Amino acid sequence: MFPRFSSKWGIYMPTIVFASPKGGVGKSTATVLLASELAAHGGTVTMIDADPNKPLSQWASLPGKPERLTVIDSATEENIIDEIESAALKTMFVIVDLEGTAPVRRILDDRWALEVSCP
Ligand SMILES: Nc1ncnc2c1ncn2[C@@H]1O[C@H](COP(=O)(O)OP(=O)(O)OP(=O)(O)O)[C@@H](O)[C@H]1O
Ligand SMILES: [Mg+2]
Repeated sequence: MFPRFSSKWGIYMPTIVFASPKGGVGKSTATVLLASELAAHGGTVTMIDADPNKPLSQWASLPGKPERLTVIDSATEENIIDEIESAALKTMFVIVDLEGTAPVRRILDDRWALEVSCP
């Protein structure tokens, strides 16, 4: 559990990462469902689409995406911490959807994830 203090919101806010080396276990689906629910309840949310196939960006291009929900599609293993930091300054929640587990160690080492969920 690695909550980080948000100077913007004045409270501890989570970064949530969905990661699994196994494909098709529901990472992207869980990311969209959680982000949509948080947005529907008034939260501002950034989803970081760290999968090269960009499933979240494809979803976001469809009609109906909540206004309070932003998708970042420029994250790479090299810049993902910067992307998380940048998103955390703008929205209350940051949710990361990974292709596999490669960047997870870095996210954990840098203490940027509140919880890494590996379904
Ligand atoms: N809770 C669930 N119950 C049943 N089907 C589900 C559930 N969550 C996801 N699915 C279905 O499983 C499939 C894979 O889901 P999803 O793309 O979210 O997995 P993923 O882990 O992100 O896959 P990938 O490793 O390819 O990124 C999709 O067809 C999705 O609709
Ligand atoms: Mg996925």
